[in-house]
Amino acid sequence: MNNEFTCMASKVWYDGKLVDESEAKVPILNHSLQYGSGIFEGIRAYSTGSGLSVFRLSDHVRRFLNTARIYRMNIGRTEDEISGAILDTVRANGPEECYIRPFAFFNSESVSLVTDGMKVSLAVMTMKMGGYFQEKVEKGIRCKVSSWKRINSSILPVEAKASGNYLNSILGSMDARTSGYDEAIFTSGEGYVAEGAGQNIFIVKNGEIVTPGAESAILMGITRDSVIKIARDRGFNVTERLILRDEVYSADEVFFAGTAAEITPIVSVDGIKIADGKPGKITREILGEYSSAVHGKNEKYRQWLYSV
Ligand SMILES: Cc1ncc(COP(=O)(O)O)c(C=O)c1O
Repeated sequence: MNNEFTCMASKVWYDGKLVDESEAKVPILNHSLQYGSGIFEGIRAYSTGSGLSVFRLSDHVRRFLNTARIYRMNIGRTEDEISGAILDTVRANGPEECYIRPFAFFNSESVSLVTDGMKVSLAVMTMKMGGYFQEKVEKGIRCKVSSWKRINSSILPVEAKASGNYLNSILGSMDARTSGYDEAIFTSGEGYVAEGAGQNIFIVKNGEIVTPGAESAILMGITRDSVIKIARDRGFNVTERLILRDEVYSADEVFFAGTAAEITPIVSVDGIKIADGKPGKITREILGEYSSAVHGKNEKYRQWLYSV
């Protein structure tokens, strides 16, 4: 499914210059390639009535810098400079909607685990990405509670969006797909529902919306935050708390939220249908509002859009 999410023949911003993708190369011994020591963001640019806009740019760049801080990675660029690099890349690659991938990495051929003083490079790529789950979004996806537990902050900082964390995501996704499901739902070490491989999770019960909080070892998603704000603005009660696996099975609605996955209804978990096995009403309402927000159709959320 994900094979098409590759860099389209395009310009890559690489250490201060826009170069052809074919010129943005690293040596095979690259530290971050060997050890997963890179850090990244996933951002989307959407078309709006007034051109292309990047959704929640500063929140993404701040999270990126926070990840760098946690790994003592000195990118050597300010928030404004990184935002500028992102906007330059989007502009250089044309007017279409795209997924943006800023990536900072130890650009060293050393096999040492001591990263002090290693050169840090920054690259920004864009790619075409429609729906992450493509046509499945319409009908909703089928998930499996993964046999792999989510990493937690005593193992790797989950607040950081670091490449290495995604080995855990890859294992969960693989486990789900080889068992015939679309995606994994991870539980925390304590057995509470945590998140998807690259998405936060929400359940709806009796008209209330519930999502795991930071104590469930999740990445604090920016889409998650947008959903919470949109839902509260529409009068829903949204609670962040521990969620038992059973509560997912008996929920009225379940959905994922993430930059790539956007809002994706989940219609069954471990083969158990969620309610009638169709995307729920509240999920569809949130999905519609989120879509309006990212496309600049709701003035209330205009401040989330950064015009390209
Ligand atoms: C593990 C994980 N959880 C949640 C999310 C959702 O975060 P966001 O909405 O900021 O994209 C992502 C995607 O980045 C992710 O990789």
